[in-house]
Amino acid sequence: MATQKNTPIGIAIFGLGRIGKVHLHNLASAFRVNIKWIVDDISVHDDIRTLLQKYRLEHVTRVASLEEADTVHSDTSVTAVFVCSPTCHHELTIKKALTAGKHVFCEKPVAGSADVIKSCYAMAKKTNRTLFCGFNKRFDPDFDVIYRKKQNGDLGKVRQLIMISRDPPIPMSYIRGSGGIFHDYCIHQLDYVCYFLGERPLTVVAYGNTNSLKADDYRDCNDVDLSTIILTFRSGAIAIIETSREITYGFDQRLEVLGSKALAMCENIPLSAGKMMVASETIQNVCPDNFVRFARSYVVEVNNFLDVVEGKTECLVKPHECIMVSELAHLCEESLRTGQVVKVPPQE
Ligand SMILES: NC(=O)c1ccc[n+]([C@@H]2O[C@H](COP(=O)([O-])OP(=O)(O)OC[C@H]3O[C@@H](n4cnc5c(N)ncnc54)[C@H](O)[C@@H]3O)[C@@H](O)[C@H]2O)c1
Repeated sequence: MATQKNTPIGIAIFGLGRIGKVHLHNLASAFRVNIKWIVDDISVHDDIRTLLQKYRLEHVTRVASLEEADTVHSDTSVTAVFVCSPTCHHELTIKKALTAGKHVFCEKPVAGSADVIKSCYAMAKKTNRTLFCGFNKRFDPDFDVIYRKKQNGDLGKVRQLIMISRDPPIPMSYIRGSGGIFHDYCIHQLDYVCYFLGERPLTVVAYGNTNSLKADDYRDCNDVDLSTIILTFRSGAIAIIETSREITYGFDQRLEVLGSKALAMCENIPLSAGKMMVASETIQNVCPDNFVRFARSYVVEVNNFLDVVEGKTECLVKPHECIMVSELAHLCEESLRTGQVVKVPPQE
């Protein structure tokens, strides 16, 4: 299953939108890979070629249309496929890539339903290939400081975990095809709190509303732009997840963990250390979005995936965890619809 020692890992990237560009940027400077292909709609090929020139990859990387995807899957010099297309297209690409013997890095979520995610992991098992889900917050070095404090006992018993995630506007075209706030967005936080606590929740309750400046657009999509999720755990810990789309003051990502021995927190990280102090206020630039705030996490997660492909380490994100968080997102939808606290069924 591992690649040959010292042979660069041949990569194909499917989808070069917002997150695909982040991975291209990081892979372009990774010494152990060759980016063989980028697959995307023909309408964006000129932009892709301009980007390839920027990274001096124009003679190395070929650009394929969606219709040429099978050519890419059958290229034996491709060892790993990055799936960065909209979520509704993941399943087909994952299954074709696995069947062709490729390892797969797939952006979160693997798919919009737990059943489809199960079938993708079943295929990964059958083909003996890695399917790695890009839950990048697990790889964030700043959150990881707190995780390691918890792991070595410095926090004591975790009593409460609060995760706040508020994002600036993203195009409504993305929201429309996203699968809804719980499967598309809260899935990051659901994954992180369960990973942090190392537990499956007992109950979940979710509240949500459309009250941003684009509330009508969200209502048209049958979605909400704000949610609060509360999860309880057998250990006694309670997790509170606050998410909001469409915020107007930058990008807001915070984590707070109350332990029996200590309180740990990760505040918002400024864009730079530079500040301006005037008579009544101090002004400092904030990170504008995910891609800047979590830039290091994307590098760490991709290196982790490449290590897995090279047989150097185990995949940190386990199949049962991806399936569980998809089920939790589904239970959040049920709770929002019914107004009830929902019991989380035990793992099958
Ligand atoms: N981990 C993160 O922080 C993070 C952030 C953003 C998005 N995502 C995930 O990444 C995925 C893509 O999101 P995005 O915001 O980059 O979307 P996007 O709309 O910006 O880009 C998607 C790209 O995929 C292309 N595409 C469409 N169908 C395709 C197919 N069948 N094969 C190949 N390419 C195809 C589109 O033309 C477009 O260029 C989603 O699953 C999303 O949930 C993850």
